[in-house]
Amino acid sequence: MLPDTSTHRVALVTGANQGLGLALVRGLRRTLGEEGIVYLAARNVDRGEEACALLRKEGLAPEFIQMDVTDAASVRAAAEMVRARHDGIDIVIQNAAARITKEVPQSDQVAGFVDTNNHGTLRVLQSFVPLLRDNARLIVVASSFGSLRNLDARLHARFDAPGLTLEGIERSMDDYVAAVRDGSAKEAGWPDWINVPSKIGQVASVRLLAREREADFRRRGILVNAACPGLVDTEASRPWFADMSKAATPDEAAKDVVWLATLPSGTREPYGVLVRHRKAQPWVS
Ligand SMILES: NC(=O)c1ccc[n+]([C@@H]2O[C@H](COP(=O)([O-])OP(=O)(O)OC[C@H]3O[C@@H](n4cnc5c(N)ncnc54)[C@H](OP(=O)(O)O)[C@@H]3O)[C@@H](O)[C@H]2O)c1
Repeated sequence: MLPDTSTHRVALVTGANQGLGLALVRGLRRTLGEEGIVYLAARNVDRGEEACALLRKEGLAPEFIQMDVTDAASVRAAAEMVRARHDGIDIVIQNAAARITKEVPQSDQVAGFVDTNNHGTLRVLQSFVPLLRDNARLIVVASSFGSLRNLDARLHARFDAPGLTLEGIERSMDDYVAAVRDGSAKEAGWPDWINVPSKIGQVASVRLLAREREADFRRRGILVNAACPGLVDTEASRPWFADMSKAATPDEAAKDVVWLATLPSGTREPYGVLVRHRKAQPWVS
């Protein structure tokens, strides 16, 4: 039986049945202790329940919630359940991400990748931002690839310009998908690896949300940031790096993200930036 009280801090991590997400649930559960209710969100019920069972064996007790970030109804249903049970949320970590495989051409993977990592992030923001309580912390797990220095200057205005909207960023991501598919991406200045524009899109969305809502969020003590966990040894990263000896374990990498997610009330920075190892990262240079 869930305690339904506003004195508990309520947290949710998406894509949390394995990799960094699972470690984030473990870290939050330990950090928040008895005062915390931590939702382990996963798209697949069996994999999610299995991950919860693993944590229960460690003496931790997460709550399972089904959420597929490619399915707006599923994201909305999860948010509605959290609203009905707790009337708000204190910590949201959008961590879910599709993988890229070397075996399949990028043109065949790019649409699903962007739908999960970028459109999925927007779906989570749309459903969960309205639930944020005073002093909430909202984090999108991105990466240090998410910087305009990794993008041709011709494309910068798509991610940083007056009048830009969150939906406009997603339209640029769709243009990018189309360009990869019709073979014009390179000529238009898009980076080779689909993870790079995708992470730029995620960081741009966080920056834009933070700017758009700054007056309200500042007044209510809410912090919104993107996070780079550094290189983490997971099944997603392993095929891409010959030398993983410097990679952190998921539990090690989770520490800095949990720190960001649990900054005490009254903290004003970092706000609206990409944070790596507890330091704000440059957006442009
Ligand atoms: N690993 C690194 O070195 C590294 C570095 C920088 C940034 N990051 C970022 O850190 C985050 C986690 O990466 P990771 O290495 O832990 O990846 P991972 O091991 O592949 O885990 C990704 C998680 O996302 C879930 N997921 C995939 N599609 C989903 C969907 N449609 N709806 C909900 N969940 C979905 C996966 O669930 P299933 O098990 O069902 O597939 C899995 O639980 C990502 O945003 C990644 O870009 C990682």
